[in-house]
Amino acid sequence: MKVAVSFLSSKRTTGQTIDMINKSSADFIHVDLMDGKFVENKNIGARMWKYLQYCEKPLDVHFMVKNPLKYVDHFKGLNVRIIYINYNSYFLNDLEQIRKKGFRVGLVINPWDDLELMKKYYPYVDKILVMSVIPGAGGQSFMMETIDKLKQIVKYRKEANLNFTINIDGGINEDTAKLVKNYVDDLVSGSYVCKADDPEKQIEKLKK
Ligand code: DX5
Ligand code: ZN
Repeated sequence: MKVAVSFLSSKRTTGQTIDMINKSSADFIHVDLMDGKFVENKNIGARMWKYLQYCEKPLDVHFMVKNPLKYVDHFKGLNVRIIYINYNSYFLNDLEQIRKKGFRVGLVINPWDDLELMKKYYPYVDKILVMSVIPGAGGQSFMMETIDKLKQIVKYRKEANLNFTINIDGGINEDTAKLVKNYVDDLVSGSYVCKADDPEKQIEKLKK
């Protein structure tokens, strides 16, 4: 299992947390970007752009912002694996603009999104990021209803003969990782790794 570590909530400073992830066996660094509009919290600004320069693993970028096009250029020249954006009425336009800049794009499925409505966008994306908590903060509990959503998405992917991959974000620890492992290709973990005394041990448990 591929593991992306989010540095959003940690017992270390952000600099120390990124350093720890760089040295760990994590596959990716999951960057949570919040504008204070799409979600209440905000972490966009000069500090964030500076932190990104320290990241030494490919970035999985999770946009929790109203207008993704406003921030994409900050990722130019960085080692970005994918940018995840939320569904809204401009989704296909945003997706096209971001692709034109050379990035792969993924769709975030938030807890409030209607899966039936989302289906028609699956053929356009490389990956889907299923949120298993309300976006905007680390350290929340995994929402059990996500399992059923994952099953539906996997079933639909097979029926429609599509080949996007599935990632999951929110409340992932060694127990919830076991519940989702048959349905996802990657997972994101934040506080379970970053609040532990031995983060590497936690990453290894998630990778199993
Ligand atoms: C939540 C973020 C997550 C978060 C995960 O809004 O998108 O990436 O940092 O943290 P944990 O693993 O603590 O739920
Ligand atoms: Zn995230």
